[in-house]
Formats: sequence, structure tokens, C-alpha cells
Amino acid sequence: MEVRLKILFTSICHTDLSAWKGLNEMQRVYPRILGHEAAGVVESAGEGVEDLKEGDHVVPIFNGECRECTHCRSHMTNLCARFRVDPFKSVMAGDGQPRFSVLDPAAGKRRPVYHFLNTSTFAEFTVLDSACVVKVNPAAPLQRMCLFSCGISTGVGAAWNCANIKEGSTVAIFGLGAVGLAVAEGARLRRASQIIGVDINPEKFVKGREMGITKFINPKDCDKPTHEVIREMTKGGADYSFECAGNLDVLREAFMSTHDVSRAVKG
Ligand SMILES: NC(=O)c1ccc[n+]([C@@H]2O[C@H](COP(=O)([O-])OP(=O)(O)OC[C@H]3O[C@@H](n4cnc5c(N)ncnc54)[C@H](O)[C@@H]3O)[C@@H](O)[C@H]2O)c1
Ligand SMILES: [Zn+2]
Ligand SMILES: [Zn+2]
Repeated sequence: MEVRLKILFTSICHTDLSAWKGLNEMQRVYPRILGHEAAGVVESAGEGVEDLKEGDHVVPIFNGECRECTHCRSHMTNLCARFRVDPFKSVMAGDGQPRFSVLDPAAGKRRPVYHFLNTSTFAEFTVLDSACVVKVNPAAPLQRMCLFSCGISTGVGAAWNCANIKEGSTVAIFGLGAVGLAVAEGARLRRASQIIGVDINPEKFVKGREMGITKFINPKDCDKPTHEVIREMTKGGADYSFECAGNLDVLREAFMSTHDVSRAVKG
């Protein structure tokens, strides 16, 4: 049930940087091939794989779906019990072994190289469980499809599915990287009336405007906490607030910027 992909495009998500820095003790499994946002073609499909074949255009997904477990069958979630996102998983589900190795000349044998987020896309070729591969239309430009692998799906999905933004509502987005900008896109598509973008890097405001952000706040320019500024702008607090910087202090600000019945969504 495994496929080997030829990776043609791959991009860097902040989660790769966090794992690279080994911010969490349990993530320190090295050597390891990082990368999880990519697009490519199927180079070969293993025994038992029926829905993918050589040459198919695909994107890897770290949140795979076995389609059989309780969670996959549930209407409440798609966080598969076997292939859901798990930064601590470093081997294949089938046999608990990695598919990568490197020759250690001193020891005269090959040493294991570990997987990351079910995908490991910073490589010319990678092996995934077929549950973690999605076929895309071959006419679609693969260099753009790779963004569907993580950032766009996470951000648009947070706005569209998790928060289920309603027309005319107010939205605050903290952190305008790939995820935050995709939240803005989702909020714009759901016809939010006001989309407030917060970032400490003013260069992000240029792209943010293109993605639908209507007002910007740089916390460094404010003489009071960001949540107070947002509460004033929205006359009491935003209907929806999204934390897309991966920072606990920012998460607190995101919660505080909402009113009592609104929703805060952690990216
Ligand atoms: N499925 C998921 O849950 C999922 C998917 C992708 C990314 N992530 C996480 O989401 C976060 C964002 O990922 P990304 O790839 O968009 O990151 P990114 O580095 O592209 O963007 C982060 C943005 O936050 C801004 N920022 C940093 N500190 C800030 C602060 N104090 N206040 C306001 N803005 C601040 C940065 O200037 C930057 O624009 C990361 O923590 C990442 O690990 C989660
Ligand atoms: Zn990611
Ligand atoms: Zn499942």
C-alpha cells in the first residue's frame, strides 16, 4: 500500500523550520528528511494500491485517510487514527521501518534516515503510504498545486470548515504567512465584511491586501495591546479570530480580541 513519488516542487512551511530547530524534544529524530508541502508524479505504486498509477500527478498530504478507521468513517472528523498528522512519527506504518538510508563508510553499513509528517518531500524521490497521496487534475500547474499540500488547505480550511465564517462577519488574523494569507482568502470567499490582518512585518501587508485583508495592525506601532485595538475596530470584538504565527502570546491576544460568543481558531 505504498507509492514512490518523484517530487517536482516543494515549499517550506514554518512547521519544517520548527522541526529543523528541534524545538520539541520528541521531534529530535535525526537524520531525517523534512518537507511536507509538495507536488509531483507517481514513479511507482506498490502491491495493493489500486487508485494510483505511474505518471499520476499528485500532492502528498500529511493528514492521510485510511478510509476504514473509526475517525475516517465519522462525520465529525477526518483525523485518521493511522495516518493523521503526527510530527513524532518517523517510520512507515506498515513495518515500523524507514524507506531511506545512507551509507556510513566508517561503519561499512547503511544507516536509517527517518521520515517526517508521513511525507518527507525535501528529496528527489520519497515513499508514502497511498493513504497520504491525493491525485490532482494533470492540467493543473504543479508548482501551484504544492501549496494545497499544507498552507492553503490549512488556512482556507480553518476559515471555511472549522470556523465556518458567516457572511458579513468580522475576522482577525494573527500572522500573515502562508497560513494566515490563506485564512484571509477563505474569509474573503465567505464574504466577511471586515478582515483585520496583524503582523510584525509590514511587508506582509502588501500581499495581504491582494488576499482580501481590509485593515492592518502592526503590534509594534500600537501603544496598547492588539486585542484592545481590535475590540475598538470591531465595536466589542471580532466574530472570528485566527492564530497563524505559532506563538503562545499571540494565541492569547487572538482569544482576547474576540467577543464572548465568537470563535478563536488555532492554526
Ligand atoms: N495544519 C496545521 O496545523 C498547520 C499547517 C501549517 C502551518 N502550521 C503552523 O502555523 C504557523 C504559521 O505557519 P506559516 O508557514 O504560515 O508561517 P510563516 O513563517 O510563513 O508566517 C508566520 C507569520 O507570523 C508573523 N509573526 C511572527 N511573530 C508574530 C507576532 N508576535 N505577531 C504577529 N505576527 C507575527 C511573521 O512575521 C510571519 O508573517 C506555524 O506555527 C506552523 O507550524 C500549522
Ligand atoms: Zn505545513
Ligand atoms: Zn483512518
